[in-house]
Amino acid sequence: MKQLYILGNWKSNKTLADAQTWLQTFQDTPINLPPSVTLIVCPAFHHISLFIEAKFSFALGVQDLSPFGSGAYTGAIAASMVQGVATYAMLGHSERRKHFGETNEIVADKVKQALSFKIRPVVCVSEVSQALALRNLVPDFMKSGLILYEPLTAIGSGQADSPENTNTTAHELITILPSVPILYGGSVVPQNVKGFVTQECISGVGVGGASLDPQKFRDLIAAVL
Ligand code: PGA
Repeated sequence: MKQLYILGNWKSNKTLADAQTWLQTFQDTPINLPPSVTLIVCPAFHHISLFIEAKFSFALGVQDLSPFGSGAYTGAIAASMVQGVATYAMLGHSERRKHFGETNEIVADKVKQALSFKIRPVVCVSEVSQALALRNLVPDFMKSGLILYEPLTAIGSGQADSPENTNTTAHELITILPSVPILYGGSVVPQNVKGFVTQECISGVGVGGASLDPQKFRDLIAAVL
């Protein structure tokens, strides 16, 4: 049985109070996940200590990392700063590529930082060429990385790609990056999630909007099980 990953991405959302409310509601009743399902939540950096205090029982991820090490890089969070706290780092999301000018080379530097500190990189790609660049720039990515494939038109639009199309692209991505888990993201909701995770080449989902509401996120997780 393949390992399935469900990754919630809060993006630039939630005050500390909002995050606390989310945690209370989400953790109200325990969720029993089989070992074949890995749940990862990627809140913003300033929420992380709340997750630790709340004894969040699933994996934590960060939404970005510095391409540099620790030191004189004002405003950046280095991989060494979140080692032992974040197990995963989402890198190269299309919103970062678009709004923050991240190139394949910058993403590759971030991946190298993550790998140096044993943080599993989840690299977001919206086209196959980005996966090719990643393989060439950081061959070691394949040892522990994951790919989150997100077609641009599907992100936040309510227009998810079809599971079949997604499976075709996931198949291409696996050919480029053998044995790397390929997740799909873009308007995944409780109603459509099962269609994706049952595709042969898809090993999970990235969830933006539907992870912000704790009950909706629980419903989505329940729909996968
Ligand atoms: P969405 O975002 O689920 O709101 O479409 C997905 C993502 O950008 O990771």
